[in-house]
Amino acid sequence: MNYELIKKFLFNFEPEVAHSIAEFTFKNFANLNFILDNLEKKYFISDPSLKQNIFNRDFLNPVGIAAGFDKNGTMIETLMGLGFGAIEVGTVTPEPQVGNDKPRLFRHPKYDSLQNAMGFNNNGADKLKKEIIKLFPYKIPIGVNIGKNKITPESEALNDYKILINEFKDLSDYLIINISSPNTPNLRDLQNETFLKELFSLSKELTNKPILLKIAPDMDKKQAIELCTFAIESGASGIIATNTTVDYSLIPNAKDFGGISGRVLKEKSFNIFKAIAKELITHESKPVLISVGGIDSPKEAYRRIKNGANLIQIYTSFIYGGPILIKKINEGLIKLLKEDGFKNISEAIGVDL
Ligand SMILES: Cc1cc2nc3c(=O)[nH]c(=O)nc-3n(C[C@H](O)[C@H](O)[C@H](O)COP(=O)(O)O)c2cc1C
Repeated sequence: MNYELIKKFLFNFEPEVAHSIAEFTFKNFANLNFILDNLEKKYFISDPSLKQNIFNRDFLNPVGIAAGFDKNGTMIETLMGLGFGAIEVGTVTPEPQVGNDKPRLFRHPKYDSLQNAMGFNNNGADKLKKEIIKLFPYKIPIGVNIGKNKITPESEALNDYKILINEFKDLSDYLIINISSPNTPNLRDLQNETFLKELFSLSKELTNKPILLKIAPDMDKKQAIELCTFAIESGASGIIATNTTVDYSLIPNAKDFGGISGRVLKEKSFNIFKAIAKELITHESKPVLISVGGIDSPKEAYRRIKNGANLIQIYTSFIYGGPILIKKINEGLIKLLKEDGFKNISEAIGVDL
């Protein structure tokens, strides 16, 4: 597979059209077992040094696809074949919604970055459930990222999360609360202690399933540490840091709306992640920490792991680098772990903190 050629073809289209072409192709690969088998043989890396048991599930490698790529759970089998060790589907909302007005997805190829203002366009909880139930029990861990509908007022947001936890608690390996997207008006206002306390005490009543909180990178470190510690002490099983940024100064002539992801987010995301990890890695509840934002190489993945990440995720670098990048990251990690004398990734987690 020559991804440079595929990319050249796809980049002729508007980004969202390119995504639909990829989705159509990925969906149809799922009906062709010989293609999936071949992909898996070529791209899926598993090695004893990469294997971890988290949430009572085997993660054969630590590289996951971040939320937003497979919002409707239609591409799981192909993404697995392309080498991802875990898949986060969603963000799903209780009811289907169309998202924000188009155009709402932009490339910044000079910066290996994307800017999106999608606004949780998705087919809704019922449709996602129908898709993923077909694959249950899953071959690899599946996280379901949940968010509130745009029309749900802030005062009723909790009820949307309640509906979604009930819908997906038995169909996911872990759930992710998304209150960090910049594209749903006032959503980030829910990143406060009162809401988190209510949310996690409700979650505990509904399920024992691990529930993680995904946070934005646009907070100062102190604020992020306080919020994440509070979430963990209220019952969250882990933190995913980070979502996209609204710091439009990172790219000259960036749009002044939506969230930026990719290479220009790397340091911002790393710094927030590291600050949180430093605080939480010794926490008695042993939260699972997932780093996402600008990861584009084995070296960067390893840096996140050494700074406390149990797992990592990618989105934008997958668009620019293609499936071979997943393989490169995994193979690179095997080599880097070996060079440093670690038998398993778990020994390397947090050594730089
Ligand atoms: C087009 C697009 C759509 C996204 N949609 C979601 C989403 O629905 N839910 C979510 O939690 N994050 C979403 N994200 C954020 C990613 O999951 C990730 O946190 C962010 O892009 C940073 O990682 P990256 O630099 O590897 O892309 C989206 C990102 C992009 C580029």
